[in-house]
Amino acid sequence: MLKLVVLISGTGSNLRALLDAIDDSRNSEQPIAAEIVAIGADTPKANLALAAERSIPTFLVQPGDYPDRAAWGDALLEEIQRWEPDVTILSGFMRLVPPRVVDALSPELLNTHPAYLPEFPGAHAVRDAIEAQVSETGATIMIVDNGVDTGPIIAQQRIPIHPEDTQESLHERIKIVERELLTETVRNLALGTINLKEIAA
Ligand code: GAR
Repeated sequence: MLKLVVLISGTGSNLRALLDAIDDSRNSEQPIAAEIVAIGADTPKANLALAAERSIPTFLVQPGDYPDRAAWGDALLEEIQRWEPDVTILSGFMRLVPPRVVDALSPELLNTHPAYLPEFPGAHAVRDAIEAQVSETGATIMIVDNGVDTGPIIAQQRIPIHPEDTQESLHERIKIVERELLTETVRNLALGTINLKEIAA
């Protein structure tokens, strides 16, 4: 069974979709052999309630509780490693992870990004795509490295931008694709058909 720790900062709707997909698959012919063993957050605004609904343990590691970013990262790493995950997923975790955390976990450290990387890296990918007046953007799942959204790409898909799109409407359509890519990535990791060390090499 693939053990996952997932980190969120916001509503966690992609995480909810992943939890549902894993649960739903249990009664199918192709169960996803993965389990989310803990859900972590960097802010009390994150929707950790969705973990409580399913009796999944949570942890909250807030930067303001530590003297500096490195100390925060070390505390975050300790919480993650306590669960001995095979893979850690940043699913709407809106903070750059300090180098010591990346070095300890990558390439078994994944991120979802609401654009077709390397286009529109950073925290405002959806807004940036609309402002650039391009006709399409996308969604990407990648390995986290020490750059900003520069790691090796595992899966990505194009998504058209409609003339009437707002940031919200576009982001919702992107998330639908992100959820599919994330679920397929977890399924493939559990099956062993994706090898993160090979992709990162
Ligand atoms: C997702 O679109 C994810 O790709 C994005 O935050 C959203 C989280 O939504 N992450 C980033 O922009 C990271 N740079 P959710 O909380 O509803 O799952």
